[in-house]
Formats: sequence, structure tokens, C-alpha cells
Amino acid sequence: MRAITQQAFGGPEVLKVTEVGRPEPLPSEVLVRVRASAVNPVDAMVRSGVLPLLGEPPFIIGWDISGVVEQVAPGVHRFRVGDEVYGMPFFPRQAGGYAEYVAAPSRQLARKPAGLDHVHAAALPQAGLTAWQGLVDIAGIKPGERVLIHGGGGGVGHLAVQIAKGNGAHVIATASADKHDFLRELGADDLIDYRTADFTQAVSDVDVVFDTVGGYGLPSLRVLRPGGLLLTAVERTNAELAAAVEEAGFRFAGITVEPDYPALETLARLADDGQLRPHVNQALPLEQAPRAHELIEAGHTRGKIVLTV
Ligand SMILES: NC(=O)c1ccc[n+]([C@@H]2O[C@H](COP(=O)([O-])OP(=O)(O)OC[C@H]3O[C@@H](n4cnc5c(N)ncnc54)[C@H](OP(=O)(O)O)[C@@H]3O)[C@@H](O)[C@H]2O)c1
Repeated sequence: MRAITQQAFGGPEVLKVTEVGRPEPLPSEVLVRVRASAVNPVDAMVRSGVLPLLGEPPFIIGWDISGVVEQVAPGVHRFRVGDEVYGMPFFPRQAGGYAEYVAAPSRQLARKPAGLDHVHAAALPQAGLTAWQGLVDIAGIKPGERVLIHGGGGGVGHLAVQIAKGNGAHVIATASADKHDFLRELGADDLIDYRTADFTQAVSDVDVVFDTVGGYGLPSLRVLRPGGLLLTAVERTNAELAAAVEEAGFRFAGITVEPDYPALETLARLADDGQLRPHVNQALPLEQAPRAHELIEAGHTRGKIVLTV
């Protein structure tokens, strides 16, 4: 099969199209013919060696996939050949998502949302699960709560805005001005252009701050209500930040996303009901993985970047 592999850590140019063996599904796994694979910031961190989750190269990066079940191994009862599935299998171990085939545990996949094509379905798992596990499972957001999302226009942010809104929250987001109309359409109530305004002057009495950018932890304490929660997807293991937040009378939580088929089923239902719309900024063919990495590393994506396979 064709896959993007790398022989060394480095810049986007280390990503090469190569021919490799097709993975064999073990018992309880399915073989998925990948149609689309989304690009996430962590892919670039693993590629460059900043976050060496997969050890030393060679390896195949990529986790978010949407595709068609090609083969089922013994023990699989949830899927049949021909079913369309999506997910973020194996994270944070190797899934090999930038490839024509992925073998994955059946319980780390869910049925693709029927109303989304593979490109949009692939855009959902990692960013959507991060937003869902963070805002719903960890923060337990409730109707009427005020939620501030830093980086509202990005992969995680634009889904977090919709999930917070769908749970009845009053949603405030920081984003550059060219993303404000987009975020208003997705349900954001108040928007702050972080390039021209100081969010600490523009917002107050927040119940939950969700930092998807990094560096917003301590400044956000000025807008949290007493006992409010600082949730971060970036400085999730920053013990110093956690201690400072708790000392000041607030709560701290770092989210580390994990495979979660019940949550994927919920995200699929929300997508099919029109309550969750993943936005794909650009879909590029698999061979253009290096270009996709340049875009994700620039750090100003609207929604998601997806590779078509
Ligand atoms: N812990 C976990 O399990 C987990 C899971 C998923 C992602 N993450 C991390 O979460 C972060 C976001 O991921 P992502 O997929 O959403 O990234 P992304 O798609 O690249 O989005 C980042 C967004 O942040 C905005 N931004 C950049 N600088 C900003 C600033 N100073 N203030 C406010 N917004 C700013 C950008 O747009 P504009 O600047 O144009 O507004 C962009 O839309 C990454 O660091 C990623 O590694 C962690």
C-alpha cells in the first residue's frame, strides 16, 4: 500500500510517499480502507521529534481516519465488510493513519456520520473528542454557564464552540477577526479579537476557560469566577500552572484525548442532527502531506486540514 513514512525526525520534507506492507488485522480488529486522514498539530510534533510518541523513525504518523471496512477479524461483531467507519485508533501509539489501510481495534472506531463525507468525518475524531472529553466529561458544562474558548477558530476550538453551545452554555471565544463571522454562525455569543483587544478587559464571571492555544492559563484567572475551572489542551502537564491555579482558588484540568467509541457515536449523532459541523479549511491529496504540515504548523488554521487517500 501507499503510505507517508519518514526515515528521520525533521521538517515537513521528511514525509515521503512510500510502498509498505498492508497491516494485518489481529483478532478483534478491522482493516479499514482509508479515504481521508486529518492532520493535527500533534502529527507535526511527532514528525519533528518535539514529542517523540512513536520513538525513533521510521514510522507512519496520523490518527484521524475515515474509511470503509475491508476485512473483519474474529471477535468483531460491531462491523461488517463495507461499513463506513471513523475514529482515532491507538492514540497515542502508532495508528499509521497517513496510509491507504489501517488495522485498528473495532471498539476504537464508530460508524461514520451518515451525513458527512469521509473528508469531513475524518476532521472530527481528535479535535471533536478533545472538545467533548474536555467540556462534557471533565468540565461537565451546564446550561447557562459561561464558557471562554481560547483559539475558537481552530480544529479543536470550532468544535468546542459548537459543543459548548449545544450544551446550553453562553460561549465566548478568542480568535482573529477574520474568523468572527464563521464562529458566530457556529453559535459563539461573544467574540474577542485577541490581536487588538485584551480579553481580560472584555469578559468576566466565566465558569470554564478552555485554552486550546497555550499561555492563556494565568491571565484567564482574572476572568474566572471563584472556583471556576481552567481546562487546557496544551499545558496539560504543567504542574506549576496547576498549583498556581489551585492556590488562587480555582480548579485546573489538563485534557489528554483518548480513543472513545461511545463519544464518537455521540459526535456522529450530533453531526447527523446538524448540531455539529466540522469545517474543513483545505483537503489535500496524501502526497501533499508536507504542505499540510506547513499549514498546520503556521498555527492559524480555520477548522481542519485533511488529506484525501
Ligand atoms: N491535549 C490533547 O489531548 C490535545 C488534543 C488535540 C489538540 N491539542 C493541542 O491543542 C492545540 C490546538 O489544536 P488545534 O487542532 O485546534 O490547532 P489548530 O487547528 O492549529 O488551531 C489553532 C487555532 O488557534 C488560533 N490562535 C493562534 N494563536 C492564537 C492566540 N494567541 N490567541 C487566540 N487564538 C490563537 C488560530 O487562529 P487565529 O490565530 O487566526 O485566530 C487557530 O485557529 C494544539 O497545541 C494541539 O497540540 C491537544
